[in-house]
Amino acid sequence: MALDSLSAQALPSASVASSPISVSPTNPAPLGSPPLVTVTPTPQGGATSSSSIPTGIASTNGNASPSATVRTPDMQLPLEAVERSAYSSIRVEGPYVAMTFDDGPDATLTPRLLDILKERHIHATFFVLGQRVQDHPEILQRAVAEGHEIGNHSWDHPPLNKLAEGGLQHQLADTSALIKQTVGHAPTIMRPPYGATNPRLSRAIEKEYGMKVILWSVDPFDWKDPGAQVVSSRILNGWKGSGGAKPGAIILSHDIHKGTIEAMPSTLDALLAKGYKFVTVSELLAMESKNPLPAPSASPSAQKTHRTKKRSS
Ligand code: NI
Repeated sequence: MALDSLSAQALPSASVASSPISVSPTNPAPLGSPPLVTVTPTPQGGATSSSSIPTGIASTNGNASPSATVRTPDMQLPLEAVERSAYSSIRVEGPYVAMTFDDGPDATLTPRLLDILKERHIHATFFVLGQRVQDHPEILQRAVAEGHEIGNHSWDHPPLNKLAEGGLQHQLADTSALIKQTVGHAPTIMRPPYGATNPRLSRAIEKEYGMKVILWSVDPFDWKDPGAQVVSSRILNGWKGSGGAKPGAIILSHDIHKGTIEAMPSTLDALLAKGYKFVTVSELLAMESKNPLPAPSASPSAQKTHRTKKRSS
């Protein structure tokens, strides 16, 4: 979210979710809380615990504004309602996480990051801007050659939910076409700038542009340049109600900030030391499909749901 200033200026209220603040069932979200956007099933045993999943819709200006994690009692929603329009974390069995890097490629930082990932045999996912791919196609080609996944992050980072008619076509289709032209295949996942989406938009993106909408469950706010150590600590340990890395986590970062790249060696080494295995977002999604939710007749305690929505990126 290098385009921080854009977020502050251009985003009117209620369009972008903000930093998550957990709200317990006994302390529900304030009246007027926006409707749910993403429903993330919680696995048995809490591998992807609800506390780690950023939720709540934001209210105001793209910076930290109050929002809420709403946890519903078990089985409160019919199973149909669990159908998701966007993904913040994935239900997996095993210590798998996905590192994601937005807003690049950057001429110098992305190649440095690729070196760091390569040394550790880690595959990550890059949500790229069409505008930047145009300038650095060779970096994208290298990323794909080294096993990373490419996702669409729009052409030039507008809030997609505020676009005039026809804007989505340019932002998504043109970017996907350029990615395909550059690396030989079109992306199947995308991340909306600022996480600005809603269920209708997310479903339209999947249906009309063939991409699943990917949000995140760990957000170090690295775009605010808090320094490498802080970025690392927030990814590992969480921050402001957002838990750190957990199995099934989708971790947000940006490969256009020096501090983020400097944070990566120690962060990745710490995660590896804890036993985490890194996969691409599509690999993480595929794992979930192999671990479907329990049938509706299963024990109610096996079916926790909660509602999520996002900000940033
Ligand atoms: Ni972004």
